Amino acid sequence: MNIGKVLGKYEHKVENLLPILLEIQDDLQDKYITPDIARAVSEEMKIPYSQMSEVISFFAAINKTPKGKYHIEMCNSTVCKVNENFLIENYLKDTLGIQIGETTEDKMFSLDYAPCFGACDVSPSIRINKRAYGKLSVEKVRKIINELRGEQ
Ligand code: FES
Repeated sequence: MNIGKVLGKYEHKVENLLPILLEIQDDLQDKYITPDIARAVSEEMKIPYSQMSEVISFFAAINKTPKGKYHIEMCNSTVCKVNENFLIENYLKDTLGIQIGETTEDKMFSLDYAPCFGACDVSPSIRINKRAYGKLSVEKVRKIINELRGEQ
């Protein structure tokens, strides 16, 4: 991971920490910010590590643990809840054998909650590796997961 390349695109200001960390995270295989990376960014940007840690713990979008190849985010905001996204959540937990915040043993799938990501008009929605999928039913989600598993 070339942290310097990402840092070179931004002014080294605290308000740029979130986009910087998200861009670094997206480039990492395990899609999370390790303490070593946080420390390196903190040193490069000359921002105290304590401040860096606060930003990391405040923003849910910054992953604190390794994620699977496919990071599934369940919207847990009002519109998706009203549209019975619990059916999709239950199916995902069941078929993947994991709970929210966990990763499958084979490191293929991670499941997390996310706040509304603007796909309310096609609710219920999930995101997989930042791509939104909407108008979901359990059957549609089953197809998506099977495709990702290579089962078609
Ligand atoms: S409420 Fe779920 S995407 Fe907006």
